[in-house]
Parts: sequence; structure tokens; C-alpha cells
Amino acid sequence: MNNDIKEILISKEELENKIKDLGKRITEDYKGKDLVLICVLKGAVMFMAELSKYIEVPLNMDFMAISSYGSSTKSSGVVKIIKDLDSSIEGKDVLIVEDIIDTGLTLNYLINNLKSRGVKSLKICTLLDKPDRRKVEVKVDYKGFTVPDEFVVGFGLDYNEKYRNLPHICVLKEEVYK
Ligand code: PRP
Ligand code: MN
Ligand code: MG
Repeated sequence: MNNDIKEILISKEELENKIKDLGKRITEDYKGKDLVLICVLKGAVMFMAELSKYIEVPLNMDFMAISSYGSSTKSSGVVKIIKDLDSSIEGKDVLIVEDIIDTGLTLNYLINNLKSRGVKSLKICTLLDKPDRRKVEVKVDYKGFTVPDEFVVGFGLDYNEKYRNLPHICVLKEEVYK
């Protein structure tokens, strides 16, 4: 295991089991619908890839990359679209796939933005929820795990663009980011 890691918070086996369950629930709920999965780059890339294997309805995948305007203004919730969707989502049943909800500002922006495009329905699926740091309420439809207010990395989540490749959700050693 990487030397910067304090502990494994959620093992890859636990992740796999939970993601299978989420996939089953989504399969039930979207039978006969026109499902579009939207991956929020880059953090959600592993979750989206894994989750989609267990959703047994025909679906489209699309990808969106957004970034906050500088780290100091992240709390303002002003974000910019780096890469927009490739296709129109008008009239579609859309499911946003996120790795983690922290302050909620990223998703709050995304929800408002995507709703304005005339979707038929819009739901949220997040692997992790960190409610302690929430600034705006976000209604979550599918949730994997609630996590404590610790610095978590792995399975897509980064610190300074590193550790995304770790197979588990891990807690980073304090000395790494302090
Ligand atoms: C992280 C994470 C979520 C968002 C959650 O993305 O992947 O998308 O922050 O934070 P919030 O609820 O406070 O808005 P980040 O902006 O670090 O980009 P990344 O996915 O490319 O790592
Ligand atoms: Mn992200
Ligand atoms: Mg990040």
C-alpha cells in the first residue's frame, strides 16, 4: 500500500458489493426508460465504470468536466464547464454519477445547469457523502456510503491529482496535506 496512506476506510470488496446493489436498484427504477449516465470528471470515472457494469438497462454514457474558479472561490459555488456533454439530454432520464458530495456546491451548480436543458427527469447517484461539510442541501437519490470529515482518496478521488488509482477508499496521512 502507498506510504502516504493512513488506513483503508472502504475496501475494494466493500465498494464492489455496494456498487452491485446500487446497480440493481437503478436497474429496477429505470426499466423501459431512456437512461443517460453522466460522469462528473475526473473523480467519478472509476465509480461510473464499475456501476455501469451492473445496470442492466440500455443506456448512454456522457461525460462532463467542471472546475471551480480558483480554490479560494470554490465556496462561492461559481464553477466553469471545462468539457460539456457531447449530446443533448432534452427529454431524457438523466442520472448524474458523482464520487463524493462535500459542500454540495459542485452538484448544486450541475443540477441547475442540467435541469435548464429540458431533461425528463434528473437524479443523483453518489458513491460517498460527507454531510459534515455541506453548504447547500442536495437531494441524493442513490448513495453508497456516508464518510466522516477526513481526507479521503482512492477509487477516483484525488489529492493534488494523485491517488486516483488506489483500489480502495483510503484516508490520507495528515502530514501529506499539511
Ligand atoms: C471533487 C469531487 C466532487 C466535488 C465535491 O471534484 O470529485 O466532484 O469535488 O465537492 P463539493 O461538494 O464541495 O463541490 P474536484 O473539483 O476535486 O475535481 P476532480 O473530480 O477532477 O477531482
Ligand atoms: Mn469531481
Ligand atoms: Mg479533486
